[in-house]
Amino acid sequence: MAKVSARIYQGTTRNLRLLARRLKAGDIVGVPTETVYGLAANALDARACGKVFRAKRRPLNDPLIVHISSVSDLSLVAKSNEAALLLAREFWPGPLTMILPKQPVVPPIVSAGGESVAVRAPAHPLFRRLLRLVGLPLAAPSANPFGYVSPTTAQHVREGLGKNLRYILDGGPARIGVESTIVDLRDPAKPCVLRPGAISREQLAAALGRKVGLLAHAARKPGKAAQVSPGLLARHYSPKTAVIVYRRLGTPMESRDAYIYFRRPSAPRKTNVFWLDREGQVAGAARRLFSVLRDVDQQGFRRIHVELAPGNGLSLAINDRLRRAAAR
Ligand code: TXA
Ligand code: MG
Repeated sequence: MAKVSARIYQGTTRNLRLLARRLKAGDIVGVPTETVYGLAANALDARACGKVFRAKRRPLNDPLIVHISSVSDLSLVAKSNEAALLLAREFWPGPLTMILPKQPVVPPIVSAGGESVAVRAPAHPLFRRLLRLVGLPLAAPSANPFGYVSPTTAQHVREGLGKNLRYILDGGPARIGVESTIVDLRDPAKPCVLRPGAISREQLAAALGRKVGLLAHAARKPGKAAQVSPGLLARHYSPKTAVIVYRRLGTPMESRDAYIYFRRPSAPRKTNVFWLDREGQVAGAARRLFSVLRDVDQQGFRRIHVELAPGNGLSLAINDRLRRAAAR
């Protein structure tokens, strides 16, 4: 791949028009979403989507999420059902991705050769404007090198992929900070969450009026997970430094190790002590999770000890990412 140098564009109308033209012409663009930044390409153009895989060094057996601007575009890319329409009306635009049977227009590279497609209508206002200007569905995985921590700012995208793309749209720090909830709706009678996110299983169950399953962490072993969703492998979201997770993290014992607490500890500040949220608020912790991991990863510690988030809801998404960062 030719080495280029990414430029960060502010979301002016002129820049959005330029980026829309580049996307229509088959280029890839780093885009802000409310969850994490994505690396977008025209979802109907197999060549453009190929550039996404190359830029990320993502294996071709790991399918992409297709982003659309509204519920009315769902039937263009997927074969919808009642359950999907219910959830789309309730939670879109927002951090919910649905797996549905795909329409033939979606090229095999997007679905990794499979018969299903992942679809989501993102909530970020700049990405929504860009989607409407392009007038095409945009395939976008998280904009990080494969397996590394997801990006929550335009600068993170440039740090990780800056030599592999030219255009990044700056939409500020991601409001949610962890990737969308993925729900498998291929069989609408048996909805199942494949990846926890900001929209909880309870919220989905309440909207659908039926139980919603959860793909167990144990099922995410190579082989098993690959049959459902290859990107849900146990090891993912990993800093280069080894990560160890704890229900409760004790006092720092090793000066060469980093300690990331859930909330700010009362002990005096040390240079190897970090926290996800000063007040211990889950939403703040989710927002800061990936940037804290990146930041600590760059400081040359021997190991990173991290405290899990308490409770349910968004904490389940945070802990899912932490456990996978820690998986060997
Ligand atoms: O919040 C998000 O979902 C972000 C933003 C950019 O939208 N995107 C994101 O994409 O997290 P990615 O590619 O990093 O993760 C998508 C996950 C992968 O684990 C992939 O394997 C799974 O979705 N996936 C995609 N298509 C699928 C399909 N047809 N069936 C099952 N899993 C699928
Ligand atoms: Mg990803």
